[in-house]
Amino acid sequence: MNASSLQALIDDIVAATRSRCDEGAVADYIPALAKVPPDRLGMAIATLDGTVLRAGDATEPFSIQSISKLFALTLALRREGESLWRRVGREPSGTPFNSLVLLEREQGIPRNPFVNAGALVITDVLCQRFLQPERAVLEFIHGLLGRTDVAIDAGVARSERQHSDRNAAIAHFMRSFGKLGSQPATVLDAYCAQCAIAMSCADLARASLFLAADGRDPLGGSPVVDALAARRINALMLTCGAYDAAGDFACRIGLPTKTGVGGGILAVVPGRMSLCAWSPRLDANGNSIAAAAAIERFAAETGLSIF
Ligand code: DON
Repeated sequence: MNASSLQALIDDIVAATRSRCDEGAVADYIPALAKVPPDRLGMAIATLDGTVLRAGDATEPFSIQSISKLFALTLALRREGESLWRRVGREPSGTPFNSLVLLEREQGIPRNPFVNAGALVITDVLCQRFLQPERAVLEFIHGLLGRTDVAIDAGVARSERQHSDRNAAIAHFMRSFGKLGSQPATVLDAYCAQCAIAMSCADLARASLFLAADGRDPLGGSPVVDALAARRINALMLTCGAYDAAGDFACRIGLPTKTGVGGGILAVVPGRMSLCAWSPRLDANGNSIAAAAAIERFAAETGLSIF
């Protein structure tokens, strides 16, 4: 498909999916997220030649939340290599993203880097390597975009940190098993700030393009991560990126995806493109209903599901 037919397609998808924007509810367990205008819908595609196509509210920044776990994981993998897997698993959890139940049975080792427990371990790894891990994640994103105007929304970070009892419980529980090197408060500060990075669909699609290109920045040509790491990240997105909806997403969309409670969903078409859709209202699993519908439609219309 050429750029103009892809543009026409995402324009059509956004127009057809607007009616789904009133389904579900915005995340309010982080109070600042409840203030987001709920009827937004955006979609963007970045193709390997660097073209970025935008539809609807594709240039409006939103809270990337768990999509940040993708960039943190990439950074941690780049630093630690395969030894990272000694600290975090690579299996779907079949539990909600903020669940504690498996941690007791599995001795404080999280199932995967995308559930909150796993993401807190990744932040802990970054805490050992960087003085300000959230700045390291942000600067990594700046490098991917070739721009420095993406920022952490301090109000969202504060709001999450003030309401982080569940994540604090997870962090303390893992530390009780000896699985967290830093103090829970240090890890939580960095984690909440990282989740509060604000980005648009267009920037998320562009920043994740290396995952569609065997780990290389397709324009700069330099490796972001090696091809093996990129393959691992895509595999984890497919199997764990939507938490206990990962199987449903694999059936409906059939692409590696990563969701966030800000309403964003990023999807990678290996060897072709990266795309992102955003709409704030979520289903019971914490995934955006309209964004999932938009990406599902995209996969159906293009036949780009990997299955
Ligand atoms: O830790 C949390 O609960 C949030 N900062 C991120 C959760 C999230 O985005 C789950 N994804 N759908």
